[in-house]
Amino acid sequence: MIDRKIIKRLDSPSTIGVIGGGQLGRMLVLEAKRLGLNVIVLDPKPNSPAGQVADFQMVAEFDDLTALKVLALKTDVLTYEFEHIDVGLLEILEQEGNAIYPGAKTLAMIQNKYRQKSSLRNIGIDVPDFHLIENLDQLVAAFDQLDQKIVLKTCTGGYDGKGSRVITERSELEQAFLEFSKYGMMAEELIDYDKEVSIIFAINQDGMKFYPVAENIHHQGILINSFVPANISTEVEQRIQTIAAKIAQEIDDYGVFCIEFFIDSRANIFVNEIAPRPHNSGHYSIEGCITSQFEQLARIITGMPLGSTELRLPCAMFNILGSDAITGKYQISGIDRLMALTDCHLHLYGKPETGEFRKIGHLTAMADTVAAASIKAKEALSLIKINSLRSVCDEKNSQ
Ligand SMILES: Nc1ncnc2c1ncn2[C@@H]1O[C@H](COP(=O)(O)OP(=O)(O)OP(=O)(O)O)[C@@H](O)[C@H]1O
Ligand SMILES: [Mg+2]
Repeated sequence: MIDRKIIKRLDSPSTIGVIGGGQLGRMLVLEAKRLGLNVIVLDPKPNSPAGQVADFQMVAEFDDLTALKVLALKTDVLTYEFEHIDVGLLEILEQEGNAIYPGAKTLAMIQNKYRQKSSLRNIGIDVPDFHLIENLDQLVAAFDQLDQKIVLKTCTGGYDGKGSRVITERSELEQAFLEFSKYGMMAEELIDYDKEVSIIFAINQDGMKFYPVAENIHHQGILINSFVPANISTEVEQRIQTIAAKIAQEIDDYGVFCIEFFIDSRANIFVNEIAPRPHNSGHYSIEGCITSQFEQLARIITGMPLGSTELRLPCAMFNILGSDAITGKYQISGIDRLMALTDCHLHLYGKPETGEFRKIGHLTAMADTVAAASIKAKEALSLIKINSLRSVCDEKNSQ
């Protein structure tokens, strides 16, 4: 076994391997390439967002151990851009001497929401009250215990609100239980929060750095908008950092992590969840901070020093999301008008198809105040439109 505690310094042209080819992987690849690194991405979908910009994409399923071994063989260090990977496979790769950051043990703690919340509760962190649900009777009992307002969540596999459902009617329990039962589930207290915020932090063998806290707006469980700095007091920000430091100590690993929180009207802070990777609410850091969350991860896994997380200017980030009105191949109009705005930055992920709530890209606007950045970002978002490519072609043909 290698000593994971000492991250090997990998000079360019070393090669990093990324499991997962989505937009988080893409933004990591872009930063790694800027630093002269080679990158191989593994994803089952050919021409994935990250694969498009990497040196090479291996097209293979995430549970294909042979492919994962080949990825490990061809690269000097591994990381991943999503948490739904078979931990047992990562353990095998680690036992064979491959460095993975964050490691399999960390992923095992985080990827199962019940296990994650239990670990947090065990170290005295406030989380929404929760119960593991193994049968309908337990669900009915938990519903009553939690004041008949719950969020039912699958223990594994959820993302962007998929795998969670708010339930406030007893009559909905049975149906929800049936739908969720193939995954394993937990019932969580529905928090009547004032704000959702998140903090990203970076850890390597030299220490830990916090990014500024982001305030996040979700709709139907999916992130719509983040702005930074969050509208919270210095005292709350310090409490958030203290919680994050305690969690980091428990995790005892290296990488870029995000913790999502709820803050209620009495300034109680609850941890919602931890992500062992760069996070959508940290996209603002690409232009907004001296070192982005993606550059930071590239630095960490290649043994470089951590970069400054200082905020350059207040930021507002909006996701560019598909809707149910247009599905399939698409084109975005209005980009030139957006590009004419000063300090407004467009990121498109190269996804060939759109769909309801699909993350097609994001934009970050910067200004002297959060209010001004938000106005600019909203204007930018209003300027662009996702059009069905089919109708654009049809229009051209009919001219
Ligand atoms: N206990 C809760 N009380 C109130 N709202 C909640 C609760 N749990 C989740 N939510 C809402 O649903 C959103 C998504 O939930 P959660 O973060 O658990 O799911 P996810 O699908 O894993 O999300 P992500 O996209 O961050 O991976 C939260 O950001 C929040 O808006
Ligand atoms: Mg979440």
